[in-house]
Amino acid sequence: AVQRTFSIIKPDATERNLTGAINAVIEKAGLRIVGQRRIQMTRAQAERFYSVHSARPFFGELVDFMISGPVVVQVLEAEDAITKYREVMGATNPADAADGTIRKLFAKSIGENSVHGSDSAENAALEIAQFFSEADLTN
Ligand code: CMP
Repeated sequence: AVQRTFSIIKPDATERNLTGAINAVIEKAGLRIVGQRRIQMTRAQAERFYSVHSARPFFGELVDFMISGPVVVQVLEAEDAITKYREVMGATNPADAADGTIRKLFAKSIGENSVHGSDSAENAALEIAQFFSEADLTN
């Protein structure tokens, strides 16, 4: 079924002017960018977004990184968008990512890994709702 997923182009990528290069990979894979905004996340927004990881040892580092510069929040639409985008991103750790994936092409490390994508339909809906209203999204 046609699905939506939530994406973030992270500060390591915006800092290197890679928004367009990453969007080109996204669009070539058949994902449609139906909403997009460049923002500076607040600490509160980043803590809420990553609250499922709050007990992890890297949580503080993760939040500091996500507010270290601008991010681009996006909603992507395609048939099976969640799985498709996870394939296009590649493994969390760029050392494990397949050739041609966004993380293999651009990520610097497991933390500074250029993009985020939702891991389930339930999380996609929650993540999209944190940053977009339905009126912001159009095909
Ligand atoms: P993301 O898909 O945004 O979801 C959680 C993030 O935590 C993940 O991408 C990584 O960037 C980050 N992360 C996972 N493991 C580590 C780690 N060992 N050190 C720092 N960051 C990590």
